[in-house]
Amino acid sequence: MPDIAELIRSCDEWITPELDKVFDPSVSEDITVKAAKYSLMAGGKRLRPLMMKETSKMMGLTGIDEDIRYYAATLEMIHTYSLIHDDLPAMDNDDLRRGKPTCHKAFGEGFAVLAGDLLLNTACERLMSIAVSKPEYAYTSYMMMVRAGLNGMIGGQSIDLASEDKKIDLDLLIELQDKKTGALIKTAVVTPYMLSKKLTAETAGADEDYKLLINLASHIGLAFQIKDDILDVTSSAEVLGKNVGKDARDEKSTFVTLLGFDAACDYLNKEACGAREVLGKLKERGYATADYEILTDYLVNRDM
Ligand code: IPE
Ligand code: IPE
Ligand code: MG
Ligand code: MG
Ligand code: MG
Repeated sequence: MPDIAELIRSCDEWITPELDKVFDPSVSEDITVKAAKYSLMAGGKRLRPLMMKETSKMMGLTGIDEDIRYYAATLEMIHTYSLIHDDLPAMDNDDLRRGKPTCHKAFGEGFAVLAGDLLLNTACERLMSIAVSKPEYAYTSYMMMVRAGLNGMIGGQSIDLASEDKKIDLDLLIELQDKKTGALIKTAVVTPYMLSKKLTAETAGADEDYKLLINLASHIGLAFQIKDDILDVTSSAEVLGKNVGKDARDEKSTFVTLLGFDAACDYLNKEACGAREVLGKLKERGYATADYEILTDYLVNRDM
């Protein structure tokens, strides 16, 4: 049975060479490209690519590994862009990310804005390009963009920013977390299955396995962000590779700042139980859930 460190290491080996070739060597001297590559290659846990790899393994999806890797790299680009912009002085104003100075600290704000834009734009190009050559993937490409947008990550970031210094209710807090972090995690969990089944807007809604994967991702996404909020209180910059104590500093609305530390831990455990319950149902349907169980435990217990 692999442990989480092995899963993360082998995912890194799988995805990093793909990320390394995203930008053509002919543009490598461009400062915006340098800034984008700096953040993309700075490390990071690569959890979203890992979730894609693990969905593929759990469901026994074969013959589309290269396409899954292509989508996984694309999602990691969108995630990295979201972090570059999240760290800007106009947003969370952070100077440490993935154990290194944030993009704007290393390259200046202008190039950090452009590096984020470039990563998003290149991700869109990739999603369009594969949908043109493989039209059966069009809906999957479209949904990745939808979940990065106003009904997903951007929408969540917008609520996050608007909720600084405010006491929001639990429903809005869940919507905030579900969108800002949950949406990209949903994309990660469901994309390999969508590709293998060639799902469309018509077929996705009626697919039982797809619905279970969405449900699993909702629990995992919420658990992941609650743990991120907890680590902001309990961890250190050395371990996390990013500064801590910033949610209280910025009067952010998080599970910890709004509900208190103990209630946040209870909520985290409730979401992890929810994830394990869905995994139980997937197991009954014959899927190999062991690695996802390891991943779920890690999301609760991680210290980075
Ligand atoms: C951090 O995500 C931002 C959130 C969505 C909470 P990760 O913790 O996955 O960051 P990296 O990719 O490992 O740097
Ligand atoms: C950011 O959430 C989520 C994104 C969409 C980028 P946080 O602001 O809590 O992430 P960290 O703590 O800076 O990584
Ligand atoms: Mg933020
Ligand atoms: Mg932040
Ligand atoms: Mg955080």
